[in-house]
Amino acid sequence: MGSLLPLSLLLLLAAAYPGGGRAHRRRRAQVQGSGGSSPVPSETPAAFWVRLRPEFKEVQPGGSVWLNCSTSCPLPEYSSLSTQLPRGQTHSGPGWVAYQLLDVRAWSSEVRCFVTCAGETRWATAKITAYKPPRSVILEPPLLVGNEYTLRCHVTHVFPVGFLVVTLRRGGRVIYSENLRRYNGSDLANVTLTYTAPARLRDFWKPVTCHARLSLDGLVVRSSSAPITLSGLAWRPASKALASSSIAALVGILLVVGAVYLRQWPLVHNQSKESRVSAG
Ligand SMILES: *[C@@H]1O[C@H](CO)[C@@H](O)[C@H](O)[C@H]1NC(C)=O
Ligand SMILES: *[C@@H]1O[C@H](CO)[C@@H](O)[C@H](O)[C@H]1NC(C)=O
Ligand SMILES: *[C@@H]1O[C@H](CO)[C@@H](O)[C@H](O)[C@H]1NC(C)=O
Repeated sequence: MGSLLPLSLLLLLAAAYPGGGRAHRRRRAQVQGSGGSSPVPSETPAAFWVRLRPEFKEVQPGGSVWLNCSTSCPLPEYSSLSTQLPRGQTHSGPGWVAYQLLDVRAWSSEVRCFVTCAGETRWATAKITAYKPPRSVILEPPLLVGNEYTLRCHVTHVFPVGFLVVTLRRGGRVIYSENLRRYNGSDLANVTLTYTAPARLRDFWKPVTCHARLSLDGLVVRSSSAPITLSGLAWRPASKALASSSIAALVGILLVVGAVYLRQWPLVHNQSKESRVSAG
């Protein structure tokens, strides 16, 4: 929306080429001829470019972003931005328009800027990715009940949870991994993974770690917990059975996803009009 040229310049150009649209086009084709020596045929619209910058932008969910659409077209007839995101302010200058987009909540958004020049429309695209690395990845001290130990890993304030994979490693080897693809909520979330397994002596000195990985279409964000060992287990008499390796393995997984509202998230309070400072 909005012409890319000041009105006075537009009138000046119109006065200089009174021959109508056709003459316009021919003249521009000569001026703009794509760098080569051969003249561009007058029927072909002049070559011009459209740029949308930055091409890739990462924001925190609920954040805002500025995109600058510029063109080499000296006299754009029309220019617009196509996006699902709410719009904020717009600034413009000769050959460019900067658009502010607000409250980015979709994890991935494509934005397109269209410019029509001499009857031809071209566009440029930009991609906005909203994500929030976990605020923390915490592995609780192990709990021993009977012959089994339970590990609990908390991944807090993460987005988008549907692209999260939580993995437990013991002695560097993966003992459990789960993706949360079935959760497609558009809020920050806390995730708790609960893993229960038979306690075996040979595992006791190996460090256990919990890993959170967000894989967002080429962008990978990893966080890990501090390591713990099972040697800190609170022993109970029942754990004598440990020596026996014939205990039936029982692995239980429980994932709990809790939505965290954006307004409870202090980091965005000055970026999003809806957010407030969290009480804690
Ligand atoms: C937008 O891009 C144009 C061309 O690169 C530049 O001249 C202009 O200063 C930019 N505007 C903003 C607000 O960044
Ligand atoms: C989330 O997934 C459910 C079930 O697959 C679907 O019905 C719902 O529309 C999805 N929501 C969003 C925001 O994609
Ligand atoms: C998420 O975890 C954080 C940090 O432990 C906690 O302060 C917050 O209350 C939790 N929110 C929900 C909805 O469970």
